Amino acid sequence: MAEQKQRVFSGIQPSGTLTLGNYLGAMKNFVTLQDEADCIFCIVDLHAITVPQEPAALRQNTINLAALYLAAGINPEKSTLFIQSHVPAHAELGWMLQCVAYYGELGRMTQFKDKSAKKEVVTAGLFTYPALMAADILLYQTTLVPVGEDQKQHLELTRDIAERFNSKYGETFTIPEPFIPKVGGRIMSLEDPTKKMSKSDESAGAYISMLDDPAVIRKKLSRAVTDSGREVRYDPEEKAAISNLMTIYSLCANKSLEEIEQQYEGQGYGPFKKDLAEVVVSTLEPIQQRYQELLNSGEVEQILRNGAERAASQCSETLNHVKSRFGFIL
Ligand code: TYM
Repeated sequence: MAEQKQRVFSGIQPSGTLTLGNYLGAMKNFVTLQDEADCIFCIVDLHAITVPQEPAALRQNTINLAALYLAAGINPEKSTLFIQSHVPAHAELGWMLQCVAYYGELGRMTQFKDKSAKKEVVTAGLFTYPALMAADILLYQTTLVPVGEDQKQHLELTRDIAERFNSKYGETFTIPEPFIPKVGGRIMSLEDPTKKMSKSDESAGAYISMLDDPAVIRKKLSRAVTDSGREVRYDPEEKAAISNLMTIYSLCANKSLEEIEQQYEGQGYGPFKKDLAEVVVSTLEPIQQRYQELLNSGEVEQILRNGAERAASQCSETLNHVKSRFGFIL
């Protein structure tokens, strides 16, 4: 008998430009997975409002992110692509799972601690965010969730919530597995290799935006910090900066870390960094071109409407099942 296809679900927040970290850690893998699995990708606008958003900017960022998904290679014929708020089941199950998750476990989430530190206002939504993320995943009986390393703890909580629910009310949810790439699961800042590459970094030199133009990419990479010595060698402990740049190179050029070491043996950092800029430019430039074409085509909104319809039908059975498990009258 043929093996059952994996059900893949993942989401990205429409909260500004995406970085090369988002691309290499997540989006690039989404594109690969859609050829072998049944994939659902979401623009998680309900998650974005856990921190303040300017309405006009959120609207624009949502459409832009959809265009970027498509430009990066998400094919709406193969994958379901939709906006989270278009499918009310997410908010509904999100609430129900807030009543399954424990206050204590939500308080232990490192992302909540980081995002709430030094903030004047911390919304309740920022605190309960992982319950909504669990709902996103569990609604679709997801087996595999491709994410970067920073989402690992949220995935563990999702599994705990699902197991708790199943053991209390009977088998309902599939327990999902995280899919975190060994190389690229955590792309680091170009200015400080001990910090994650993040779009919220105060310094734009710390990250490459997927929409940076080639001149900007070259400049940022030429200024990227390196380590002492001059050897291009993969050693995340001793040579954190170069190892991060090698990871980026390896994923963009589709070359192994060993091949890269051999290619630059005895040459020092200069030639390596120069070529790195070119492999990053040739990865992002075609995506940027398609992105502009898609935005101009006016097709994006219709794709999202179709995606939402498909997503809604893919999750309705599970939502009803959960409601009846709780004892709601259907
Ligand atoms: P978000 O929008 O912050 O990031 C989107 C994806 O990019 C990954 N990522 C990185 N990977 C490698 N290196 C980096 N420097 C880097 N920065 C970000 C993230 O791990 C993520 O996979 N909570 C999620 C969105 C979400 C979700 C979901 C994901 C909501 N519901 C359900 C999966 C399943 C988030 O804020 O991702």
